[in-house]
Amino acid sequence: MVFRSRSGFGRPPVPAQRDPVTSDAPPPPVPAGKRDTFSELKVHLHQTLINRLDLSVLIAVDRNVLYSQIGRVTEALLAEEGTFLAPDVKERLVSEIQDEILGLGPLEEYMKRPEVSDILVNGYEKVYIEEGGKLYLTETRFKDNDHLMKIIDRIVTRVGRRLDEASPMVDARLEDGSRVNAIIPPLALDGPMLSIRRFRTNVLDIEDLLERHSITQPIFEFLAAAVKSKLNVVISGGTGSGKTTLLNILSAYIPDDERILTIEDSAELQLQQPHVVRLETRPPNIEGRGSVTQRDLLRNALRMRPDRIIIGEVRGAEIYEMLQAMNTGHDGSLTTIHANSTRDCLLRLETLMLLSGIDIPGRAIRELVTSSINLVVQVSRYSDGTRRLSSISEIVGMEQNTITMQEIFRFEREGIGEGGRILGHFRPSGIRPKAMSHLAAAGIHLPSELFDPIETPS
Ligand SMILES: Nc1ncnc2c1ncn2[C@@H]1O[C@H](COP(=O)(O)OP(=O)(O)OP(=O)(O)O)[C@@H](O)[C@H]1O
Ligand SMILES: [Mg+2]
Repeated sequence: MVFRSRSGFGRPPVPAQRDPVTSDAPPPPVPAGKRDTFSELKVHLHQTLINRLDLSVLIAVDRNVLYSQIGRVTEALLAEEGTFLAPDVKERLVSEIQDEILGLGPLEEYMKRPEVSDILVNGYEKVYIEEGGKLYLTETRFKDNDHLMKIIDRIVTRVGRRLDEASPMVDARLEDGSRVNAIIPPLALDGPMLSIRRFRTNVLDIEDLLERHSITQPIFEFLAAAVKSKLNVVISGGTGSGKTTLLNILSAYIPDDERILTIEDSAELQLQQPHVVRLETRPPNIEGRGSVTQRDLLRNALRMRPDRIIIGEVRGAEIYEMLQAMNTGHDGSLTTIHANSTRDCLLRLETLMLLSGIDIPGRAIRELVTSSINLVVQVSRYSDGTRRLSSISEIVGMEQNTITMQEIFRFEREGIGEGGRILGHFRPSGIRPKAMSHLAAAGIHLPSELFDPIETPS
């Protein structure tokens, strides 16, 4: 009989011990003699509670009230059954039952820890969390896949969605802003898969990035100047590489007197300016209707007299309107894109354009990209969990059929140090950006030494 810690993660293993549950607790439904472990007692109490409570009314009542009510009823049930527990065991039992009925069950513990940035569930037996930029397998388990499905169902029904064989994938957002994706069999081969990207309330700021050596002061000054002077900037990077974080930081340099319009699939940006209009896409409803895409929002946004448009991540047909907008009076637009290098970013832009169904030849697409985008900022996530700005390239024109770019800064990787730490330097290429004249016209004069090819250790 093992007394398993709820998460086991980050704590010393809990030694096997007998639960201090009396064996004379009355039946039913589990025969008294058998109900001698913590988890069996939990299942029993949970079941009894479910049988007694009308769960349909739970959604309507305030959650804090419900939490305390469920706590009280659980304690009353224990007393009714004559089950005596040590105070700390009782507290844990009550809290787990509350989480089970109202929250995300075994995941609730991680939802309460702000430093956990992702929770990834691969079937009932494997729960991973990301903390401090690194992914860990925890000891948390669901009872079985049905248990996991119940929790997933709770998440998706709360947002008016449905998950079943007919619609086995769902994107949703929790009340706290966290993003959720669930995909179930038969599409997921190894049981239900749940991915939660936590909404960060303590978003990193520029001081954090400098402290973590993710960027250097001169590089940052250049980027801030680019944003102030209305250059069009695309932040490119892989999944979780820090694109949105950097976008959020850079958008703080948009002057206060501009009307900013943000368009996102799920609202993550936290702009501080007074004049911000936030728009968010809508997935289709249960009948598969009523979806509003980023493209729809962008078309509408263009009629809302924006000074700047920020698209959280460009990933579909909105690319065409975005490039058009950047080209026609909405300078200073910012977005992110999923790509692994600055060159790859151009390919991705072109692919998205082709997929958007606009019938224009490849060369015209590249010309549109060249005349719309000024800077591509690449961010990368390294094997030691760190994120860095790895390159800034400026789009300077076209040579025959190819877009030409010049790299202004880059992070040069030099090896691996103690504990797998990535070693390297930030190095300006020595090229003065073509955009210097644009910055000067906007009254921003950066010292030219900023671009001297001097190494800054990471
Ligand atoms: N420079 C950094 N140093 C350390 N952690 C960072 C850094 N930048 C971002 N992070 C953290 O990495 C995680 C992912 O960041 P973010 O959401 O900005 O990435 P993303 O590239 O936009 O991800 P996605 O692909 O999901 O859109 C967050 O937890 C964030 O706090
Ligand atoms: Mg992002």
